[in-house]
Amino acid sequence: MKKLFAAVLMSTAVGAFADAAPAQYQASCFACHSTGAAGAPKTHDQAAWEPRMAKGMPAMVESVKKGLNAMPPTGLCASCTDEDYTALIEFMAAPAPTN
Ligand code: HEC
Repeated sequence: MKKLFAAVLMSTAVGAFADAAPAQYQASCFACHSTGAAGAPKTHDQAAWEPRMAKGMPAMVESVKKGLNAMPPTGLCASCTDEDYTALIEFMAAPAPTN
């Protein structure tokens, strides 16, 4: 019984983690930011994001819209709004959820 309870708890936590990623993340940003391809700051790698976040969120959103070096303009999310970018950046810069 205890084991079953733990399994249910765990699947709930995993579900919550999946929900935490904004909808566009998987389709757009994931390709580069999950692996750090071409020098992209990796998702949940706080040390990589900290100096970038220091520039402030408006500057970060501008970088994505205009493109930055190997990152193409819009980060491959043509339909993203500023609010979408903010949510995506906050998700990637946050520490990995512990579960
Ligand atoms: C084709 C690969 C690629 C995709 C797709 C991509 N990125 Fe990037 N991203 C990069 C790379 C490479 C860098 C590092 C650029 C540099 O500093 O030279 C970067 C840097 C960033 C930065 C830091 C900008 C700064 O001013 O330091 C932000 C914020 C960012 N990406 C957000 C996003 C978001 C949000 C998405 C999805 C909508 C996305 N990226 C999609 C490759 C990508």
